[in-house]
Amino acid sequence: MAKLAASILSADFAHLGDQVKLVEPYADAIHVDVMDAHFVRPLTIGPVVVGSLRPLTALTLHAHLMIEHPERLFDDFAATGTDMVTCHLEAVDVPEPVLRKARELGMRTGLAVNPDTPVEGVFPHLDELDNVIVMSVRPGWAGQTFLPESLPKIETARSEIERRRLSVDVEVDGGITVETGARCLDAGATVIAAASSIYKSEDPAAAARALAALAKGAA
Ligand code: DX5
Ligand code: ZN
Repeated sequence: MAKLAASILSADFAHLGDQVKLVEPYADAIHVDVMDAHFVRPLTIGPVVVGSLRPLTALTLHAHLMIEHPERLFDDFAATGTDMVTCHLEAVDVPEPVLRKARELGMRTGLAVNPDTPVEGVFPHLDELDNVIVMSVRPGWAGQTFLPESLPKIETARSEIERRRLSVDVEVDGGITVETGARCLDAGATVIAAASSIYKSEDPAAAARALAALAKGAA
């Protein structure tokens, strides 16, 4: 069974707790897009917001770190109750010590690859990972169109993980709807992350329920 990650980037931040509660019955994780105005142009949110959400939900709180020097914020993310941090391969020169630091702080770890980055770049680090994010849009903004070039990257990552009998999720992030999500699950994704197709829909709970059903139906 695959999982649904609800990305709060498209949520109404004036009512963030309520927005998390809307999807909580259906989502497996809350995906928090952290952007620093350097690695990507926008600036979003950080550990303080995770800390506010922590008492509200037992769901996995996953920080997708689209930032330079991500390790500088690990203490703060761990202290505020973040379950997992995913760094961008493009942002870390030597991933091993970075991943080790996150683990020592009690967090699960991931590496993400941009659309232009070959997914094989994470292969030397798979033993240290719980999660690989294949970006299916350019990082920085919600509401972009899914890039189908990500499908073979999902297949490649999944087959390497299976070949090595590892337990690492393959998460696809960007432009995920029921239609594109189904294609990603067919390609071997184990987590589908979605922001706009949930929070910009008229009924976010129903949208999350539909995506969760899709994920659960994919064996
Ligand atoms: C993009 C973020 C995504 C984004 C997805 O930089 O990493 O998580 O929230 O948004 P949608 O689902 O609208 O493409
Ligand atoms: Zn994300």
